[in-house]
Amino acid sequence: MSNHEPTDKNTKSGFSHEKIETNNFLMIVLILLVIAIGGIVEIVPLYFQKSTTEPIRGLQPYTPLQLAGRDIYLREGCYNCHSQMIRPLRAEVLRYGHYSVAGEFVYDYPFQWGSKRTGPDLHRVGGKYSDDWQRIHLINPRDLVPESIMPAYPWLENAPVNADIGANMRALRRLGVPYTDAQITGAAEEVKGKTEMDAMIAYLQVLGIHLK
Ligand code: HEC
Repeated sequence: MSNHEPTDKNTKSGFSHEKIETNNFLMIVLILLVIAIGGIVEIVPLYFQKSTTEPIRGLQPYTPLQLAGRDIYLREGCYNCHSQMIRPLRAEVLRYGHYSVAGEFVYDYPFQWGSKRTGPDLHRVGGKYSDDWQRIHLINPRDLVPESIMPAYPWLENAPVNADIGANMRALRRLGVPYTDAQITGAAEEVKGKTEMDAMIAYLQVLGIHLK
Protein backbone atom coordinates (compact mmCIF):
# COMPACT_ATOMS: atom_id res chain seq x y z
CA MET A 1 0.00 0.00 0.00
CA SER A 2 1.23 3.42 -0.82
CA ASN A 3 0.96 6.46 1.36
CA HIS A 4 -0.90 8.21 -1.38
CA GLU A 5 -3.94 5.96 -1.26
CA PRO A 6 -6.98 8.15 -0.45
CA THR A 7 -8.15 7.72 3.12
CA ASP A 8 -11.84 7.54 4.09
CA LYS A 9 -12.96 11.03 5.01
CA ASN A 10 -15.04 9.75 7.89
CA THR A 11 -12.45 7.67 9.65
CA LYS A 12 -10.01 10.51 9.33
CA SER A 13 -12.05 12.69 11.64
CA GLY A 14 -12.77 9.78 13.96
CA PHE A 15 -16.49 10.21 13.36
CA SER A 16 -18.61 8.24 10.93
CA HIS A 17 -22.08 9.35 9.93
CA GLU A 18 -22.48 5.88 8.57
CA LYS A 19 -22.34 4.59 12.13
CA ILE A 20 -25.51 6.50 12.98
CA GLU A 21 -27.28 5.63 9.78
CA THR A 22 -26.69 1.92 10.17
CA ASN A 23 -27.39 1.64 13.89
CA ASN A 24 -31.14 1.78 14.62
CA PHE A 25 -30.72 2.20 18.33
CA LEU A 26 -28.24 5.03 18.09
CA MET A 27 -30.41 6.70 15.44
CA ILE A 28 -33.50 6.53 17.68
CA VAL A 29 -31.65 7.89 20.72
CA LEU A 30 -30.25 10.81 18.74
CA ILE A 31 -33.63 11.60 17.14
CA LEU A 32 -35.25 11.68 20.58
CA LEU A 33 -32.49 13.94 21.82
CA VAL A 34 -32.98 16.41 18.97
CA ILE A 35 -36.78 16.42 19.43
CA ALA A 36 -36.39 16.94 23.17
CA ILE A 37 -34.18 19.99 22.65
CA GLY A 38 -36.59 21.41 20.07
CA GLY A 39 -39.52 20.78 22.41
CA ILE A 40 -37.84 22.42 25.37
CA VAL A 41 -36.93 25.49 23.34
CA GLU A 42 -40.47 25.89 21.98
CA ILE A 43 -42.64 24.82 24.91
CA VAL A 44 -40.90 25.80 28.13
CA PRO A 45 -40.96 29.59 27.51
CA LEU A 46 -44.78 29.41 27.17
CA TYR A 47 -45.02 28.57 30.86
CA PHE A 48 -43.33 31.83 31.75
CA GLN A 49 -44.67 34.30 29.17
CA LYS A 50 -47.23 36.78 30.46
CA SER A 51 -49.27 36.58 27.27
CA THR A 52 -49.94 32.87 27.80
CA THR A 53 -50.15 32.63 31.60
CA GLU A 54 -51.97 35.81 32.65
CA PRO A 55 -55.72 36.24 32.24
CA ILE A 56 -56.78 39.02 29.87
CA ARG A 57 -58.32 42.10 31.49
CA GLY A 58 -61.80 41.48 32.87
CA LEU A 59 -61.61 37.69 32.73
CA GLN A 60 -63.22 36.06 35.77
CA PRO A 61 -63.27 32.42 36.85
CA TYR A 62 -66.56 30.72 35.94
CA THR A 63 -69.37 31.20 38.45
CA PRO A 64 -70.75 27.96 39.97
CA LEU A 65 -73.66 27.97 37.50
CA GLN A 66 -71.42 28.64 34.48
CA LEU A 67 -69.02 25.95 35.64
CA ALA A 68 -71.87 23.45 35.98
CA GLY A 69 -72.87 24.39 32.43
CA ARG A 70 -69.37 23.76 31.22
CA ASP A 71 -69.46 20.27 32.75
CA ILE A 72 -72.70 19.57 30.88
CA TYR A 73 -71.10 20.86 27.68
CA LEU A 74 -68.40 18.20 28.16
CA ARG A 75 -70.85 15.47 29.19
CA GLU A 76 -73.05 16.02 26.14
CA GLY A 77 -70.07 16.07 23.80
CA CYS A 78 -70.80 19.48 22.29
CA TYR A 79 -67.08 19.68 21.50
CA ASN A 80 -67.52 16.90 18.96
CA CYS A 81 -69.12 19.43 16.63
CA HIS A 82 -68.03 22.80 18.00
CA SER A 83 -64.57 24.29 18.39
CA GLN A 84 -63.83 27.20 20.70
CA MET A 85 -60.86 28.71 18.97
CA ILE A 86 -60.99 31.44 16.38
CA ARG A 87 -57.87 31.44 14.28
CA PRO A 88 -56.09 34.64 13.30
CA LEU A 89 -57.23 34.44 9.67
CA ARG A 90 -59.29 37.12 7.95
CA ALA A 91 -62.21 34.83 7.09
CA GLU A 92 -62.47 33.62 10.68
CA VAL A 93 -62.26 37.07 12.22
CA LEU A 94 -64.91 38.45 9.84
CA ARG A 95 -67.24 35.60 10.73
CA TYR A 96 -66.71 35.17 14.46
CA GLY A 97 -64.98 38.28 15.79
CA HIS A 98 -61.59 38.83 17.41
CA TYR A 99 -59.34 35.79 17.15
CA SER A 100 -58.82 33.81 20.35
CA VAL A 101 -55.84 34.61 22.58
CA ALA A 102 -54.22 32.36 25.19
CA GLY A 103 -55.04 34.69 28.09
CA GLU A 104 -58.74 33.95 27.61
CA PHE A 105 -58.30 30.29 28.54
CA VAL A 106 -56.24 30.43 31.72
CA TYR A 107 -59.19 29.27 33.86
CA ASP A 108 -60.19 26.50 31.44
CA TYR A 109 -59.19 23.03 32.62
CA PRO A 110 -59.19 21.45 30.14
CA PHE A 111 -59.59 24.01 27.34
CA GLN A 112 -62.19 23.30 24.65
CA TRP A 113 -60.31 24.57 21.59
CA GLY A 114 -60.96 21.56 19.40
CA SER A 115 -60.71 21.48 15.64
CA LYS A 116 -63.90 19.66 14.61
CA ARG A 117 -66.42 22.07 13.17
CA THR A 118 -69.61 20.33 12.15
CA GLY A 119 -71.27 23.39 13.66
CA PRO A 120 -69.84 26.91 13.96
CA ASP A 121 -67.11 27.92 16.38
CA LEU A 122 -68.60 28.93 19.72
CA HIS A 123 -65.78 30.89 21.29
CA ARG A 124 -67.56 34.27 20.87
CA VAL A 125 -71.15 33.08 21.02
CA GLY A 126 -71.67 34.80 24.41
CA GLY A 127 -74.21 37.58 24.03
CA LYS A 128 -74.81 36.78 20.35
CA TYR A 129 -78.36 35.54 21.04
CA SER A 130 -80.85 36.01 23.88
CA ASP A 131 -81.22 33.42 26.64
CA ASP A 132 -84.60 32.53 25.15
CA TRP A 133 -83.04 31.88 21.76
CA GLN A 134 -80.50 29.55 23.35
CA ARG A 135 -83.21 27.73 25.30
CA ILE A 136 -85.45 27.14 22.28
CA HIS A 137 -82.45 26.20 20.15
CA LEU A 138 -81.23 23.59 22.66
CA ILE A 139 -84.73 22.09 23.08
CA ASN A 140 -85.06 21.75 19.33
CA PRO A 141 -82.61 23.46 16.95
CA ARG A 142 -85.01 22.98 14.02
CA ASP A 143 -87.49 25.41 15.58
CA LEU A 144 -85.05 28.25 14.88
CA VAL A 145 -82.78 26.92 12.15
CA PRO A 146 -84.94 24.63 9.96
CA GLU A 147 -81.97 23.08 8.13
CA SER A 148 -80.00 22.41 11.34
CA ILE A 149 -78.47 18.98 11.91
CA MET A 150 -77.64 19.72 15.56
CA PRO A 151 -79.15 17.19 18.00
CA ALA A 152 -81.91 18.30 20.41
CA TYR A 153 -81.20 18.39 24.15
CA PRO A 154 -84.71 18.64 25.69
CA TRP A 155 -83.81 16.82 28.92
CA LEU A 156 -81.62 19.71 30.08
CA GLU A 157 -84.82 21.63 30.79
CA ASN A 158 -85.95 19.19 33.51
CA ALA A 159 -82.70 17.98 35.08
CA PRO A 160 -81.63 19.75 38.29
CA VAL A 161 -78.09 21.05 38.19
CA ASN A 162 -75.29 19.24 40.08
CA ALA A 163 -75.40 20.75 43.59
CA ASP A 164 -71.92 19.46 44.44
CA ILE A 165 -70.24 21.94 42.10
CA GLY A 166 -68.17 23.26 45.04
CA ALA A 167 -66.06 20.10 44.83
CA ASN A 168 -65.18 20.92 41.21
CA MET A 169 -64.24 24.44 42.25
CA ARG A 170 -61.97 23.10 44.97
CA ALA A 171 -60.23 20.87 42.41
CA LEU A 172 -59.85 23.81 40.03
CA ARG A 173 -58.39 25.94 42.80
CA ARG A 174 -55.68 23.35 43.22
CA LEU A 175 -54.86 23.90 39.53
CA GLY A 176 -54.57 27.66 40.01
CA VAL A 177 -58.08 29.11 39.58
CA PRO A 178 -58.43 31.77 42.30
CA TYR A 179 -61.69 30.73 43.96
CA THR A 180 -62.17 31.95 47.55
CA ASP A 181 -63.43 29.75 50.40
CA ALA A 182 -66.62 31.80 50.49
CA GLN A 183 -67.26 31.20 46.80
CA ILE A 184 -66.78 27.47 47.24
CA THR A 185 -68.96 27.10 50.32
CA GLY A 186 -71.63 29.32 48.76
CA ALA A 187 -71.70 27.39 45.49
CA ALA A 188 -74.47 24.93 46.38
CA GLU A 189 -76.72 27.81 47.44
CA GLU A 190 -76.04 29.65 44.20
CA VAL A 191 -77.11 26.81 41.92
CA LYS A 192 -80.09 25.80 44.06
CA GLY A 193 -83.30 25.36 42.06
CA LYS A 194 -81.50 25.83 38.73
CA THR A 195 -81.80 23.38 35.85
CA GLU A 196 -79.09 22.05 33.60
CA MET A 197 -80.58 24.25 30.89
CA ASP A 198 -80.01 27.36 33.04
CA ALA A 199 -76.42 26.25 33.60
CA MET A 200 -75.76 25.55 29.93
CA ILE A 201 -77.12 28.94 28.90
CA ALA A 202 -75.13 30.73 31.63
CA TYR A 203 -72.00 29.08 30.26
CA LEU A 204 -72.73 29.83 26.60
CA GLN A 205 -73.51 33.47 27.37
CA VAL A 206 -70.11 34.13 28.97
CA LEU A 207 -68.06 32.59 26.16
CA GLY A 208 -65.57 35.00 24.66
CA ILE A 209 -67.26 38.19 25.88
CA HIS A 210 -64.14 39.82 27.28
CA LEU A 211 -62.49 40.44 23.92
CA LYS A 212 -65.15 41.44 21.43
C1 HEC B 1 -73.80 16.77 15.52
C2 HEC B 1 -73.11 18.03 15.68
C3 HEC B 1 -73.51 18.98 16.80
C4 HEC B 1 -73.52 18.75 18.15
C5 HEC B 1 -73.17 17.46 18.89
C6 HEC B 1 -73.86 20.01 18.76
N1 HEC B 1 -74.07 20.95 17.81
FE1 HEC B 1 -74.47 22.93 18.14
N2 HEC B 1 -74.61 23.24 16.14
C7 HEC B 1 -74.42 22.29 15.18
C8 HEC B 1 -74.72 22.87 13.87
C9 HEC B 1 -74.63 22.15 12.53
C10 HEC B 1 -75.09 24.21 14.10
C11 HEC B 1 -75.52 25.27 13.04
C12 HEC B 1 -77.03 25.18 12.83
C13 HEC B 1 -77.81 25.66 14.03
O1 HEC B 1 -77.67 26.83 14.44
O2 HEC B 1 -78.54 24.84 14.63
C14 HEC B 1 -75.00 24.41 15.55
C15 HEC B 1 -75.24 25.62 16.18
C16 HEC B 1 -75.08 25.86 17.52
C17 HEC B 1 -75.19 27.16 18.16
C18 HEC B 1 -75.45 28.47 17.47
C19 HEC B 1 -74.10 29.05 17.02
C20 HEC B 1 -74.20 30.30 16.22
O3 HEC B 1 -73.24 31.08 16.27
O4 HEC B 1 -75.20 30.50 15.51
C21 HEC B 1 -74.99 26.96 19.50
C22 HEC B 1 -75.00 28.03 20.58
C23 HEC B 1 -74.76 25.54 19.70
N3 HEC B 1 -74.79 24.91 18.47
C24 HEC B 1 -74.52 24.96 20.91
C25 HEC B 1 -74.37 23.59 21.10
C26 HEC B 1 -74.29 22.97 22.41
C27 HEC B 1 -74.32 23.69 23.72
C28 HEC B 1 -74.16 21.63 22.18
C29 HEC B 1 -74.09 20.51 23.21
C30 HEC B 1 -75.18 20.45 24.17
C31 HEC B 1 -74.14 21.42 20.75
N4 HEC B 1 -74.29 22.63 20.13
C32 HEC B 1 -73.98 20.20 20.13
C33 HEC B 1 -73.98 21.00 15.36
C34 HEC B 1 -73.87 20.37 16.59
